[in-house]
Amino acid sequence: MIEAVKGTRDILPAEAGRWQFVEAQAREVFGRYGFREIRTPIFESTELFARGVGEGTDIVAKEMYTFLDRKGRSLTLRPENTAPVARAYLQHGMQRGSDLTRLYYIGPMFRYERPQKGRMRQFAQIGVEALGSEHPAVDAETLHMLAVFLDRLGLGRIELLLNSVGCENCRPAYRELLKAELMPFRDRLDADCQRRLETNPLRVFDCKVPEDQALIAQASPILDHLCADCRRHLDGVRGHLERLGVKYTMAPRLVRGLDYYRRTTFEVTLPTLGAQSALLGGGRYDGLVQELGGPPVPGFGFAVGEDRLVMSLPEERTGGEWSPDAVFVILGEEGVGASLEGAQRLREAGLSVVVEPFPDRSPKAQLRRANDLKAKTAILVGGSEVAGGTLTIKRLGDGLQKTVPAADVVATVREMLHV
Ligand code: HAM
Repeated sequence: MIEAVKGTRDILPAEAGRWQFVEAQAREVFGRYGFREIRTPIFESTELFARGVGEGTDIVAKEMYTFLDRKGRSLTLRPENTAPVARAYLQHGMQRGSDLTRLYYIGPMFRYERPQKGRMRQFAQIGVEALGSEHPAVDAETLHMLAVFLDRLGLGRIELLLNSVGCENCRPAYRELLKAELMPFRDRLDADCQRRLETNPLRVFDCKVPEDQALIAQASPILDHLCADCRRHLDGVRGHLERLGVKYTMAPRLVRGLDYYRRTTFEVTLPTLGAQSALLGGGRYDGLVQELGGPPVPGFGFAVGEDRLVMSLPEERTGGEWSPDAVFVILGEEGVGASLEGAQRLREAGLSVVVEPFPDRSPKAQLRRANDLKAKTAILVGGSEVAGGTLTIKRLGDGLQKTVPAADVVATVREMLHV
């Protein structure tokens, strides 16, 4: 048997309702804040991620699904969608059409990671990007929208962790300071942390080794070394968040695994998710559009891991199980045509109807199937119905049964179901 590839999975109908529920809420809430949907391709030029996300990041260095197409071009299944959205923004000259462009997306991303609970090789993100303003009100309003969205899903108390990672003015000096502070301990760090210290010192805060973390925790956080502009920006974000009533906690050692971030960064973690506790992450990326060859357009956004979000939904948000209004019970080949016709009438009236043409099966077996589907009615079509141009409708809850002319089927079903 051929099975789904490691790190991928099927979302079966019983679970799909939860996904639809989450996506419908996202569309509704984001729409209220002026975000509109963008759908970008699943694969892009590899160079987009190398330049956008950064060569030195784990994502680009270790986790991309990269392949050559038949003409030898290097393509990559998107590991994230901020760089592709910035590419599309530039390609379509969106900066010329509007000063502030708000976009959202829902779709699959691909990262070659070691699969475990909540960590997949194909996973879905629900994300938003606001391009064109560096005003802290954009950060605060977008985070408010995020809080409204999560609240609607009934996720309960969540913790928003906020930080600033500075900008090109203050970060280089801080990077040197961090290196100087940690170099004396370099040999006590594990190989991966040592590599980070050399190539991307801020990322040492994400080292996985607990003993190393104890050492690293002593280093001064970037929050204490922001330039005046970055500090003012952060104060602005915090002030607007407080005014909007969005709760957050400062997390001075929160760094993110993508190179494009400037200033605001944040994550929401859920302890119930276990080791993969990050439900979502995001921040400001004021240099990205320029890095991709465009004008200096600032940006802010986040992406929620949809798999993790669906896993965390409270039980009552299952989206409800689907069940049809009517299932046809067809007694003999001669009943098939009348069944298709009757089903069509009901569907045109907005009812959901299932026709499974197994006319040789016993009425008992077909009724059992209708019950399994939790159908509200069964519509019986046998020889006498065909001869008389009638249909027999049986309400499955209490067995009430009526035989009516085929033309009256809609009115009768509605009356029996009180709809
Ligand atoms: P990220 O933190 O790499 O950020 O991913 C965002 C979220 O995607 C994570 O918090 C997590 O819930 C989910 N996620 C990531 N990897 C996996 C995986 N292997 N399996 C399941 N879920 C996963 C970004 O991707 C940025 N583009 C976010 C952003 C948007 N920043 C600004 N705008």
